[in-house]
Amino acid sequence: MTRGRFITLEGIEGVGKTTHGPFVAEHLKALGRDCVLTREPGGTALGEALRAVLLDPKLPGMAPLTELLLMFAARAEHIARVIEPALAAGQWVVCDRFTDATFAYQGGGRGLDAQAIATLEQFVQGALRPDVTVLFDAPVELALERTRHRGAADRFEQERHDFFRRVRDCYLARAAAEPARFRTVDAAMPLEQVQATLAALVGELAA
Ligand code: TMP
Repeated sequence: MTRGRFITLEGIEGVGKTTHGPFVAEHLKALGRDCVLTREPGGTALGEALRAVLLDPKLPGMAPLTELLLMFAARAEHIARVIEPALAAGQWVVCDRFTDATFAYQGGGRGLDAQAIATLEQFVQGALRPDVTVLFDAPVELALERTRHRGAADRFEQERHDFFRRVRDCYLARAAAEPARFRTVDAAMPLEQVQATLAALVGELAA
């Protein structure tokens, strides 16, 4: 059995990941790849319960370390119950956010030490790393403007622009440091152009 490939989608709020995830998964299926679409934090019953806690705007002022550990708790469950079994069974896994989000939000955004995050990454994931990470990038003002019409802001969406600037900068730095894994897509482009770029990328991956 050939192991499946692990594709993660990243970016700040408002770059369209919620639309792009299903698009990538459908394209992979159309090309004959058995594929699981999932997300973090979440992807399991326990993970979704932790997500509700993590995003709850009625829980402001959560200590950054608590936030970090809850992200990795949800991830440990997700890996054990969903990601590893799927990859081992030959399925491709498309995951809306993974550990790059932890480096970007808890590291860049909250200021936690990247080395501490890397230690947890190694402890929780062992050798598991994404094969390909698509970073949807757009200027903070444009991306956040797109989220304005959504319902009540969650705990992260309530953050200020400079928080998201640090998150974006961290994502861009990670993409620059690992060019073989990252594909950066300009999410400021019209949706049709983003989807054409994604279709080409998926075609290349599934070839
Ligand atoms: P989203 O998946 O709807 O974008 O919302 C998830 C939120 O959780 C988003 O604001 C980013 C945040 N997040 C982290 O801060 N760290 C993480 O490790 C992950 C996976 C998500």
